[in-house]
Amino acid sequence: MKELVIGFALLVAGCLFLFQLVDDSVLSGIFGFSSTQVTKADRLSVIYINNNCTQHNVTTNELPYHDLHMKWMAEGVTKENYAKANISLEAAYEYVDQIAIQITSQNLFGEKVYCHYFDSDKKKIGEPFESNVFPESVIYCLRRAGTNYVSLTRKPNDTPEYPIPLLDRTMEKPEHYFSVCVAPFFGTEPKWLMIAEFVEWYKLQGATYFYFYLAEMSLYDRIILDDYVRTGEAEVVIMHDRFDRPGDRWHMLEIHDCILRSRAHSKWAAFVDIDERLTMTQYKGTILDYLKSIADKSIGSIQYRQRWIMKTEDQPEKYINATETVKWMTTQRYTNTSHVGPPGHTAKCIVRPETIGAMFIHYPRKFYPGFNQYGLTPEEGVVRHYRDQRFDNWGKTWLKEVAAFGPFEDTKLEENVSKQLVEAVVKRVKYVYGKAQNGYK
Ligand SMILES: *[C@@H]1O[C@H](CO)[C@@H](O)[C@H](O)[C@H]1NC(C)=O
Ligand SMILES: *[C@@H]1O[C@H](CO)[C@@H](O)[C@H](O)[C@H]1NC(C)=O
Ligand SMILES: *[C@@H]1O[C@H](CO)[C@@H](O)[C@H](O)[C@H]1NC(C)=O
Ligand SMILES: *[C@@H]1O[C@H](CO)[C@@H](O)[C@H](O)[C@H]1NC(C)=O
Ligand SMILES: *[C@@H]1O[C@H](CO)[C@@H](O)[C@H](O)[C@H]1NC(C)=O
Ligand SMILES: *[C@@H]1O[C@H](CO)[C@@H](O)[C@H](O)[C@H]1NC(C)=O
Repeated sequence: MKELVIGFALLVAGCLFLFQLVDDSVLSGIFGFSSTQVTKADRLSVIYINNNCTQHNVTTNELPYHDLHMKWMAEGVTKENYAKANISLEAAYEYVDQIAIQITSQNLFGEKVYCHYFDSDKKKIGEPFESNVFPESVIYCLRRAGTNYVSLTRKPNDTPEYPIPLLDRTMEKPEHYFSVCVAPFFGTEPKWLMIAEFVEWYKLQGATYFYFYLAEMSLYDRIILDDYVRTGEAEVVIMHDRFDRPGDRWHMLEIHDCILRSRAHSKWAAFVDIDERLTMTQYKGTILDYLKSIADKSIGSIQYRQRWIMKTEDQPEKYINATETVKWMTTQRYTNTSHVGPPGHTAKCIVRPETIGAMFIHYPRKFYPGFNQYGLTPEEGVVRHYRDQRFDNWGKTWLKEVAAFGPFEDTKLEENVSKQLVEAVVKRVKYVYGKAQNGYK
């Protein structure tokens, strides 16, 4: 098939399932590779658009929490004012009470913008709706009956950016209880083993879904990511914009987007990096058990304090065998662990997305009224952060501060959990990367 994007629809039990297959020629554009470098694995990226008989036939007349948003906007909450870019649409979500559009610009905080509505034939519906960028990179719009696509402009009569489809977030019950939002991938260190170890760790902790964000990655690493997409455990959001930026600058966009993406889709969502493993300590049970045990409905976030575990080498480039896999798993290789950081210090959270008005990397900046955060004691849980000391010059810039928290000690995962993790990782990476015999012989 020659088309760049192949869309198809399946009619199952009266519900329309829409999918969009990303062909490798699209990806070769995104990554700047020639098409010969693009592997078969790229074809597996099925972008999930809509899984329900969506009731797009709804109009709303007011935006929820509008006055509160205007107040926070006046206070500059989440304002970044980073670089100069125009509007580029990343994703749009339709909730029961509103629409939210995520853009990739980080310099339009509080600016007036206009929401445009389109039907399934991309025909305009009605007049544009005036809104503001709040939080940074997010625009809330009213729902309008018949809308399948939305777009934005700076002035009401400007030509709208390419319209994008609404992702359905109108379901009554979240599909997942515990999911994980992962900071965007960038840089050249091999990540395939880190990804497997990360996913299998959180699966053992009861997570059932992963939101991955991808700015840069080798095609080899991409294969395992796509394999988790294949098995319905993950989705991958491509971070791309005609206004380019350094790899680390995608992080706040992921934070804002994943609040929107997980809202109504997951009851709880962790916000972590690929080298961070939220870990229960003396609490006997998984993270999921802990989340299910929270009786206080006002808790919108639980926060874990950090312990840094000294990582000093690059991860292996390619899969070799089971022995090598175990040898290089960060949880098996690195044990030199810092004292736990003070409350709040570079902490990480698991949040209920619908309670959050504005999110940050380490904590929610604003909760909606009636919600607040619970800080876990180190006896309940910590972040085990397998921090590479060389990356970002961490060993020189930050290590002293961390050393001041107290003495280092050797720590390992609890033996049974460690064993289960090793088994799961070895099995998955062998399945994905291990070469069986030539099937044509
Ligand atoms: C959408 O809603 C309007 C009024 O609420 C109704 O007249 C129309 O038939 C509905 N269309 C569909 C396709 O359900
Ligand atoms: C960005 O928007 C401004 C104002 O509409 C316009 O003058 C400029 O050409 C745009 N730049 C790009 C690169 O699209
Ligand atoms: C699908 O939509 C219907 C009607 O809005 C709703 O009752 C149902 O719970 C939804 N199912 C899922 C899995 O979200
Ligand atoms: C695994 O690979 C290493 C490195 O190539 C090699 O030394 C070792 O013998 C292999 N182990 C097995 C069990 O094949
Ligand atoms: C643990 O790491 C710290 C900080 O780099 C270092 O000072 C200490 O010597 C290490 N301990 C061991 C046993 O390697
Ligand atoms: C580890 O597993 C063994 C064997 O299944 C079991 O007897 C033991 O209680 C477990 N330990 C912990 C801490 O769960």
